[in-house]
Amino acid sequence: MSSLEDQSRRHVPQHVAIIMDGNGRWAKARGLSRLEGHKQGVKRLRDVIRWARDAGVQQVSLYAFSTENWKRPKVEVTGLMTLMATMLPLEVPKMMEEGARLLTLGDTSKLPWLARKALQRALDATKNNTSIDVILCLNYGGQQEIVGGVKKFCASFSTEKEKEEALAKLSPETFYSYLGREGIYPVDLLIRTGGEKRISNFHLWDAAYAELYFSDTNWPAYTEDDLKAALDDYAGRERRFGQTSEQIQGIVDE
Ligand code: IPE
Ligand code: IPE
Ligand code: MG
Repeated sequence: MSSLEDQSRRHVPQHVAIIMDGNGRWAKARGLSRLEGHKQGVKRLRDVIRWARDAGVQQVSLYAFSTENWKRPKVEVTGLMTLMATMLPLEVPKMMEEGARLLTLGDTSKLPWLARKALQRALDATKNNTSIDVILCLNYGGQQEIVGGVKKFCASFSTEKEKEEALAKLSPETFYSYLGREGIYPVDLLIRTGGEKRISNFHLWDAAYAELYFSDTNWPAYTEDDLKAALDDYAGRERRFGQTSEQIQGIVDE
């Protein structure tokens, strides 16, 4: 590998998280139903997995349904759940071809039975694939994830003495293990499509140091060039994690 390729590889994010927003607006602008927008959105999802894998991304997490999305009209919630139950089985052969392993984040136990069944089948079928991890975030909320971690932490001690010891050891690093994100890299690049500039309860913990990128393209219209633009932008950034530029570049001592 040439040094230039070496250099560009170093700047490929390991974990790209995407807030796939704008399905409804995309559909409305074309006189279509919101559900038609979601259907087209699923097609983009399939493409993005391939584009991300080809770019060398190891994990891509996709915000498919937030804990707040239950508040949408019942017909849309039912439509989204039905879409998942019917489209997911069709995606599995494609995922096998591409070597994509499916993982999830969020409380999937609250999804309707048919959606859970489709999900479990896809998880089982793809579990040995190694080219890219596709983390579907379903009934996911960053605040809920952190509260879940707090609950697990509190359940980890039963005596006053254990509690004191656990509290003394508690830090962001030790707390992380209670979030149930084993095997998931911290988010390097968080992309939101659809033009809004907010996080909407996605990956709150990792948002501390994820690089943010906002695209005006509505999700159903998202292209490989859009993803490339986000990856190029990321490659040009300097992640300092609180340090100075000189420290990062190794110009000054520790
Ligand atoms: C994102 O698109 C998909 C989901 C939330 C499931 P939206 O449905 O939020 O689309 P807009 O924001 O209304 O255009
Ligand atoms: C975030 O989009 C959730 C998903 C893309 C699944 P929303 O459309 O629900 O976010 P808000 O309501 O505009 O913040
Ligand atoms: Mg939206």
